[in-house]
Amino acid sequence: MHKVILDSDPGVDDALALYYLIRHPDIDLLGVTTVFGNASVGITTRNARFLLKAWGHDAPVHPGAAGPLTLDMPPEAYPVHIHGENGLGGYPVSDEAVDQPESAAQFLIDQVRANPGQVRILAVGRMTNLARALQLAPDIAGLVADVVIMGGAFRVPGNVTPAAEANIWGDPLAADIVFGAPWRVTAIPLDLTTRTFMTRGMLARLAAEGGPGMQLIADLSQDYVGFYAQSGYDGMLVHDCTAAVYLTDPGLFDLAQGEVRVLSQGIALGLTLMNPVTRHGPLAAWDGRPRQFAAVDGQPDAILSHIARTCVGS
Ligand code: BDR
Ligand code: CA
Repeated sequence: MHKVILDSDPGVDDALALYYLIRHPDIDLLGVTTVFGNASVGITTRNARFLLKAWGHDAPVHPGAAGPLTLDMPPEAYPVHIHGENGLGGYPVSDEAVDQPESAAQFLIDQVRANPGQVRILAVGRMTNLARALQLAPDIAGLVADVVIMGGAFRVPGNVTPAAEANIWGDPLAADIVFGAPWRVTAIPLDLTTRTFMTRGMLARLAAEGGPGMQLIADLSQDYVGFYAQSGYDGMLVHDCTAAVYLTDPGLFDLAQGEVRVLSQGIALGLTLMNPVTRHGPLAAWDGRPRQFAAVDGQPDAILSHIARTCVGS
């Protein structure tokens, strides 16, 4: 069993990732930590609680950061045109308690220390909670099994700016801290996630065969599908769930390796830059950083099949 903590900003594609985790027989979901991103942290926390309740799962939800560690960030509007005003595509979400004080970083620290060498952190929002946990307790870097993130654009353009992918762009300093810590980070970036495209037809089939749990995913994804339709696509990208599949089926991913830096100012704010292992020369800003991993390629069709098998059983 993989002991997993999901750090997330639900978020339509986050919802599918969460469903994958709770459906997968080899995953023990220890908890969910939430972060601002697709909506405010109050909304993403409520959404995480709503989804878990709807699917009958009792994993705890711990609210995290309301804003970035990075100073002097450009003002950020939540992406309501993609995830809706309520973060779940306008799907009617019941009120859930969100009055807890921020506890995400401490939850991450406590779980990692209580399960040395076992916890896998899957972070599919801004990296702020992970960076805060590292600042509070640097020892956790040596105690986690690994960290898997949905984030970055290594050899392709970004989706917020030509340079940057949303999860990195939203707190580039936090991402730089996470890539620089002595733990294993595997990034599942836009290089691959922009090729894991679930067609409208596939989504409808999974909803028809998958019962109420999968029907909820299909219902809350309709506006998100509509967003892609405006650009001529008939379906949706499943960024965050692609990263979830890496936890269980790493053989479907082709990894590049190298030290990673993230730009935290200028027009290329949020750019992820990997120094390839084959490159030799003066490195300066990459010197002494740990080698990390990025899935610059992989098998999108097989990843989608794994999602279908896990979420529907077909
Ligand atoms: C990432 O940004 C968010 O909007 C999605 O949930 C995903 O985590 C894709 O760039
Ligand atoms: Ca997300």
